[in-house]
Amino acid sequence: MRERLNALRLAALEQIERAGEPARLEAVRIAYLGKKGELTAILKQMGGLPAEERPAMGQLANELRRELEEALESRAAALNAALAAARLREETIDITLPGREQELGHRHPLSIVLDEVEEIFLGMGFSVVTGPEVEWDYYNFEALNIPAGHPARDTQDTFYITERMLLRTQTSPVQMRTMEQRKPPIRVIAPGRVYRSDAVDATHSPVFHQIEGLVVDEGVTMAELKGCLEHFAKRLYGEDTRTRFRPHHFPFTEPSCEVDISCFRCGGGGCSFCKGEGWVEILGAGMVHPKVLQNGGIDPGQYSGFAFGVGLERIALFRFEIDDMRLLYENDLRFLKQF
Ligand code: PHE
Repeated sequence: MRERLNALRLAALEQIERAGEPARLEAVRIAYLGKKGELTAILKQMGGLPAEERPAMGQLANELRRELEEALESRAAALNAALAAARLREETIDITLPGREQELGHRHPLSIVLDEVEEIFLGMGFSVVTGPEVEWDYYNFEALNIPAGHPARDTQDTFYITERMLLRTQTSPVQMRTMEQRKPPIRVIAPGRVYRSDAVDATHSPVFHQIEGLVVDEGVTMAELKGCLEHFAKRLYGEDTRTRFRPHHFPFTEPSCEVDISCFRCGGGGCSFCKGEGWVEILGAGMVHPKVLQNGGIDPGQYSGFAFGVGLERIALFRFEIDDMRLLYENDLRFLKQF
């Protein structure tokens, strides 16, 4: 019995020392000290020994049990310490690494310019309204004095959805919708997307933006239109900016004009940007046609008004001296970050 205990002791201690992880160590413990363990089995056999040997053997076996328990415990402590040390090593944070830079969003030049334009008109007592991009032929053309077959339709190559429904080609239909909904005095601007079946090039896009303006009240004259748009041009392009009102034709305004501003690059002397003209066109405008007022339910005998339509892209291109409209839609960060 003494020899068996000795052999068991050596084998057990060796296995404890060799156990490289807690699970393995636990398996060793069960193999020797568990209910069906080797040492447990020996202890159970004590009863079969001669009575005089029993106390000595019992003591020996109990001492062995305690020794193994202590060995297991200290091995477990060593393993845990090693594991903790390894985890610490792995989880070390290198605080000398440069941080990951978070890219900040950036406002699009069109949004920047639209905000500026809205700000200028809000300052003159206008409010901002919107209308649908999918529009009835009636609002886009018919009510604006452009009946079926009118040549003005040809200049706006149009995306039709049905025979009577289309993607609006201009923001002017919002004039009609506003007149139907509000009573004078009316003072609104209506920014938004418009669509024309144009091929993409440096100055054209099938989707672009306009800002419509509409003022209706008693006694509104062309002088007010002129003052309003002059103020707008000076606020947007600087106090030195001069304006020029050229006669033009729009079916829904009478009289109509196109408005040029003195070239912001050369100041009017003529350069490549204004093609030597000294002037660049920025918008169309005019006094609201009496028939259009009538279509909007407003008595042209009592009220008059003016309207204008500005191309937002044009304004942005001029404002930031960009020479190709496509840059505005490509969303190349290297370009957008410049504004
Ligand atoms: N809607 C016209 C266009 O797209 C611009 C305009 C608006 C002209 C209002 C006069 C009055 O060309």
